[in-house]
Amino acid sequence: MPAMFFKLVILIQATLAVSQNVSFIYNGFRSEYLSLDGVAQFTPNGLLMLTNDSQEIKGHAFYPNPVTFKNSYSDTNAFLFSTTFVFAIRSVLATVSGHGMAFVIALKRGIPQELDTIKQIEFNDIDNNHVGIDINGLNSVKSATAGYYAENNGGFRNLSLTSGQVMQVWVEYDGTKKQINVTLAPVSAGKPHAPLLSLKHDLSPILHKTMYVGFSSSTGSLPTSHYVLGWSFKMNGQAQELVHSQLPNLPRIGGKKVSKLLTIGVPVMSLSLVLLPIVGIISAIRRKRKFAELLEDWELEYGP
Ligand SMILES: *[C@@H]1O[C@H](CO)[C@@H](O)[C@H](O)[C@H]1NC(C)=O
Ligand SMILES: *[C@@H]1O[C@H](CO)[C@@H](O)[C@H](O)[C@H]1NC(C)=O
Ligand SMILES: *[C@@H]1O[C@H](CO)[C@@H](O)[C@H](O)[C@H]1NC(C)=O
Ligand SMILES: *[C@@H]1O[C@H](CO)[C@@H](O)[C@H](O)[C@H]1NC(C)=O
Repeated sequence: MPAMFFKLVILIQATLAVSQNVSFIYNGFRSEYLSLDGVAQFTPNGLLMLTNDSQEIKGHAFYPNPVTFKNSYSDTNAFLFSTTFVFAIRSVLATVSGHGMAFVIALKRGIPQELDTIKQIEFNDIDNNHVGIDINGLNSVKSATAGYYAENNGGFRNLSLTSGQVMQVWVEYDGTKKQINVTLAPVSAGKPHAPLLSLKHDLSPILHKTMYVGFSSSTGSLPTSHYVLGWSFKMNGQAQELVHSQLPNLPRIGGKKVSKLLTIGVPVMSLSLVLLPIVGIISAIRRKRKFAELLEDWELEYGP
């Protein structure tokens, strides 16, 4: 028995050591372990494929260990994090409906069914090709048409998220300034000096002590492949830059598909930063239901 007790203590300490100031970098996913579900899978050459070209499917991939954001739930000390990832979204056909992909910070690895799809029109989205910050649900707190500020006063350039072009996103949060920045650029352009989205929002009341970080993606009636080529994250510091030469290549696609993609319609896709303290939402719904039941009881007993 004492031996077992010892083992337990060591295990707990190891877990604590791992979860402080988490930092990781995946230049491709050749031998890395992430917690996958849905149709998410690694391709043999090291791509993380969240969804393939099927309709009505979803895929999630989460860093397997929880990330410590605060020392305790009530801790209001400022924290910061930064993450960057390279992605590509390929759509076979552009139609009027489609979902998208999100970088997610959630209390659990995975997202409850009812919150799973990243729908656009129903949730105040500004247009069909945007980047948004969603907090505590699917309403975009702030969003912008996908694009970037080109260097040397090159002005704002639109990007089509579903073009299949390889792009990079940076998400940075500074708890002292209480500010989230989201920056997008074609992978070859480097990081623009100005973020696409900048939002003043204190995340400390929303985030729990530990949270999981990962990606979520779903397709609607629009068959779309969502790929992540590389991912870097750091808690309390600047995420290491990805090494572009080490990133895996996207699968080849036929010339016909490409020309179709470039000529047909408006791509419908969003890319979001979703912050979901899931337990909070579910308990709020339960409380509401309970309250409704109580009301009915009261009505039965005392009449309307
Ligand atoms: C985590 O990083 C912060 C900021 O660099 C530092 O102050 C703190 O001591 C670090 N914590 C651990 C456990 O290394
Ligand atoms: C997508 O993945 C699912 C599950 O792995 C598979 O059943 C389906 O055939 C795949 N679709 C395509 C178009 O590859
Ligand atoms: C960029 O996209 C927005 C929204 O779709 C549009 O209003 C604007 O004219 C586009 N700008 C360019 C330079 O294409
Ligand atoms: C966000 O961007 C603004 C404008 O470039 C910059 O002043 C600020 O320091 C950035 N904040 C973070 C958290 O990166």
